[in-house]
Amino acid sequence: MPTDTHSSTIRRARTFPVRQVLPPLLRSPLQALEDLSRAANGEITRLSLGVFRPYLVTHPDHLQYILRDNAENYRREGLMWKPLSRLVGEPSGADPVWPVKRDVFMHLMSGPNIASYTNEMAKAITDAVEDLGRRVKPGEPVDAMTEITRIVYRAILQLFVGDRLTRDDVERLGNAILTATTSSFRARMLLPFVPHSIPLPGDRAFHRAVREVDEIVYPLVHQARREGAGDGILSLLLQAKGPDGEGLSDKDIRDGVVSIFVAGTETTVTALTWLWVVLAEHPQVMERMREEIEQVVGLDVPQREHLPRLSYTKMVTQELLRMYPIGWIIPRVVAEDDVIDGVRMKRGATVIVSPYLTHRLPQVWPNPHVFDPERFAPGQRRHRFAYLAFGAGPHKCVGTQFFTVEAQIILSAMIPRLRPALYGPPTARLQAGLTLKPDKPIQLTLQPVVS
Ligand code: HEM
Repeated sequence: MPTDTHSSTIRRARTFPVRQVLPPLLRSPLQALEDLSRAANGEITRLSLGVFRPYLVTHPDHLQYILRDNAENYRREGLMWKPLSRLVGEPSGADPVWPVKRDVFMHLMSGPNIASYTNEMAKAITDAVEDLGRRVKPGEPVDAMTEITRIVYRAILQLFVGDRLTRDDVERLGNAILTATTSSFRARMLLPFVPHSIPLPGDRAFHRAVREVDEIVYPLVHQARREGAGDGILSLLLQAKGPDGEGLSDKDIRDGVVSIFVAGTETTVTALTWLWVVLAEHPQVMERMREEIEQVVGLDVPQREHLPRLSYTKMVTQELLRMYPIGWIIPRVVAEDDVIDGVRMKRGATVIVSPYLTHRLPQVWPNPHVFDPERFAPGQRRHRFAYLAFGAGPHKCVGTQFFTVEAQIILSAMIPRLRPALYGPPTARLQAGLTLKPDKPIQLTLQPVVS
């Protein structure tokens, strides 16, 4: 990749004018971005929105350069990072404590560690699924997101906060985080140039929600300091040493707990909510997955040993995140002038990096709108930066393996016990916010199997 900033062959990025960008973006942001990305055809372009003129970068070679090869020049600032920093603390690589927190997360989410708690997590998930089976009336619709959230919270309770929070507290924390990431978040993200001194609708709800998060998490941190080690992320953060060799501050520990909660729950819940829409549209995929799960796990509690044999189930979740990459946008800001593939990248400009757009480029993924888990069958080859559901480079998702294990367990506990099916036609559409949520509730009917 040429990076000589003085060469005479350097050109400016082709720019889409404001009249071509703004009206469709206001009508339907995702569709507009997808259309512009197709028109750019893998070339680096700029979107003119008046004073705000982000680069649009979709080609895997260029993404490799931005996310990995020259990652230090492409910082996590602006767009969603600004509102997010008010909730989770500074998410940028510029924060000296971030590598310490990242090490803690990576340790907790490492293969051997996951293996050590998989069976315990599977038991918690199965209990939650069985509770759900006892609560519902066969055939009566339930809200998919609410119920998957309950199951995911049971899965992560022990791991994230040890035994220090009750289930009700975790639900309260989850609700506060959900309010924070939905209230003014979308507006702040789509209008990054509006200063925080100018109030936007939803700002007050956002601040109230952040206060509530603090009211739940700070006492946890204080209690853990007083009582010493326990389980989970909180204790690991308490034991960690910062870059100055001292322990982390209360604020750093609070930020670490909230970060992993934000990054690890809503993403999983949203993905596993969309799944039922996809399966309703592709009954043959559902049938094959059900057969695999029934053969490998049946009505047993899923175990670590089952997971390698749930390969089709894994392929389905991978393809799900290709078409519905929940972390749909991972923007960056150019730190210093640079050149990518002959195109000048101006210091201070925002760069839109979007797994959603790259996953839908026909030259990268043939027939991108066709849902086909076989794309992830063993032996399939592709550019390493074609699949970005979990990001890449120094900020790559630390929860990739955890998500895969958690999803395999949730599906293999739910499908044979509850026989979930979408209620009504699949009419929900993607809505772009921090994540890719459905624009209306997704309902399921369950047919609990009496054991
Ligand atoms: C459907 C599931 C998930 C998706 C789609 C997803 C997606 C992503 C993406 C795209 C990034 C990269 C952000 C960037 O480069 O700026 C990321 C980072 C991260 N993810 Fe995930 N994630 C998922 C599940 C999880 C889980 C289960 C956890 C933890 C339990 C987790 C923890 C994190 C953390 C801590 C980071 C920040 C890493 C860093 O900045 O160093 N994620 N995730």
